[in-house]
Amino acid sequence: TEKCKAVVLGGGSVGKSCLTLRYLQGKFIEDYNPTIEESYRKMITVDENVMMLEVLDTAGQEEFRSVQDKYFRSGEGFLMIYSIVSRTSFVEIQNLHESLRYAKNTNDIPTVTVGNKSDLVNDRQISSSEGQELASKFNSKFFETSAKTGDNVQEAFEQLIREIKNW
Ligand code: GTP
Ligand code: MG
Repeated sequence: TEKCKAVVLGGGSVGKSCLTLRYLQGKFIEDYNPTIEESYRKMITVDENVMMLEVLDTAGQEEFRSVQDKYFRSGEGFLMIYSIVSRTSFVEIQNLHESLRYAKNTNDIPTVTVGNKSDLVNDRQISSSEGQELASKFNSKFFETSAKTGDNVQEAFEQLIREIKNW
């Protein structure tokens, strides 16, 4: 069967694990458990193509981030995630993108830019247009998602798969 390897990148606590679990298992976890590294596999169907998707859920917290280069090299496509309620995470995703470009030695990397926690509208720090602008800089599509409500989660992952497969 066809394979597809996606990596979920972003700062600590932006919701990488929750987005992954929402997409792959349809659930939401309120408690915060910092990730060291997790990987998941699931057979999925996107645009009538069946494939084995592997998702690598990475560590956002600095102290767990020793193996970053390995993530960069092994991934075919990257979900670049910040939280709409954290300016810090918006800066961090730009630094991660720069490291990614450096590691891959190209600008042509399949990515999707994601502003997560869209349900927390009252605490918003990053406007949608700022997010869109960053996505354009990354040459990627943009989604605001909520792992909590499920809004746009499937859309973001499926778009990444389309970018990887060049559909
Ligand atoms: P690291 O593994 O440390 O890098 O963090 P992470 O990016 O995997 O964050 P995680 O998914 O563990 O979520 C962190 C916290 O934010 C948890 O308490 C989640 O319940 C919460 N959270 C994640 N996504 C959302 C969301 O869309 N909306 C709301 N309201 N909370 C969310
Ligand atoms: Mg995590």
